[in-house]
Amino acid sequence: SIPVIFDCDPGHDDALALWFAAGHPSLDLLAVTTVGGNVPLEHTSRNARVVLSVAGVADVPVAAGAEGPLSRPLETAEWIHGANGLGGPVLPEPTVPLDPRTATELMADVLLAAGEPVAIIATGPITNVAVLLRDRPELTDRIREIVWMGGSTERGNATPYAEFNAMVDPEALDLVVRSGVRFTMVGLNVTHRALVTPEVRARLGAIGNRTSAFGDELLEFFCRTNAEVFGMPDGPLHDPVAVAVLADPGCVELVHTRLDVELTGTLTLGATSVDFDGMLAREPNAWVATGIDVDRFWALVEASVAHLA
Ligand code: BDR
Ligand code: CA
Repeated sequence: SIPVIFDCDPGHDDALALWFAAGHPSLDLLAVTTVGGNVPLEHTSRNARVVLSVAGVADVPVAAGAEGPLSRPLETAEWIHGANGLGGPVLPEPTVPLDPRTATELMADVLLAAGEPVAIIATGPITNVAVLLRDRPELTDRIREIVWMGGSTERGNATPYAEFNAMVDPEALDLVVRSGVRFTMVGLNVTHRALVTPEVRARLGAIGNRTSAFGDELLEFFCRTNAEVFGMPDGPLHDPVAVAVLADPGCVELVHTRLDVELTGTLTLGATSVDFDGMLAREPNAWVATGIDVDRFWALVEASVAHLA
């Protein structure tokens, strides 16, 4: 199985992604790190602990990272995720503790201790990974690859041309893309096909364990806010698609191409430029998701949730 560090800002779709990573037999979840994103860091850190506690995942350390982007104020998304980031269910007191290390320290310890290169899945603004690459460049070789949910080959969801995770910390994204570590972008062009339809909800709800019951309350809220904000009542469950890239190669179609991040646009800050046609004549530097086997994806999520408490 692939050893994984999971960096996130839970977040409803981050929660499902965490369960997917914790429950899938081809992934070995070694650590969870949190970042300010959908809501401020104190909430995302607590939420990660709640999500793991509900699922009975007791042996994975959780450490808090950056409160906000490298060089900008944090922008949050309470209108989708609620005031505490996990709107819907009553949140239990987490039994999983908060690790005293910073996210960067925990990532570094895990990378140094692992017997093989470790993959990083990131499902929020990618600040923590950027800080790691910036401050601990000697660890770069120990990172197998980075798979990130964010960006888009088409339009955005935070501004007309920028996706939320990219828009919140574009400088961090730029640093990570330039690092030379294998990088995969799983953007809205694909995650907008991972829709929580009534059938999907019914199947996940029917699993019948504690995780699925909690998840159903999350998805009810998430679909309601996505209907209100985006007119998408079948909410797109973005973050788990990044997990699928590693859990089941072939479920998500990838293209090796050129990715650049807009850092100076007046209307397009954080836009991801994906040069499929080689118009810029720059070397390919990233793998970009272009397609997904939707049925296979939901079967993976379902089977993973079924493995949990
Ligand atoms: C991304 O933004 C967040 O609101 C979600 O958790 C996801 O990571 C989608 O644009
Ligand atoms: Ca997220």
